[in-house]
Amino acid sequence: MPNWTLACATADIEPDDLIRFDHGSQTFVIIRSEDDTFHALDGICSHEHVHLCDGLVMEGQIECPKHSATFDYRSGEATRAPACVNLKTFPVRVQDGQVYIEI
Ligand code: FES
Repeated sequence: MPNWTLACATADIEPDDLIRFDHGSQTFVIIRSEDDTFHALDGICSHEHVHLCDGLVMEGQIECPKHSATFDYRSGEATRAPACVNLKTFPVRVQDGQVYIEI
């Protein structure tokens, strides 16, 4: 059974931006793309233990604020060093202006 968890409202995130979402001991980033799709990933960089919520979102990528590694936020793929381990992604569902992620 999928476990859908309410993360935020769609209006909480500007296009090409992100927010941090904490649930239990886990931290996620919820990203809204320029074309209004929503994506959820691990909120911690796979290079060192740095929160990605302070990073930049641009052109389908999220950039870590510490050493500027980038990840494809649709696939979680690490696309620029120094990160070489992909981020875990989580399914997202948008319903009635609310964003749910499957944890
Ligand atoms: S901590 Fe993210 S690139 Fe180093």
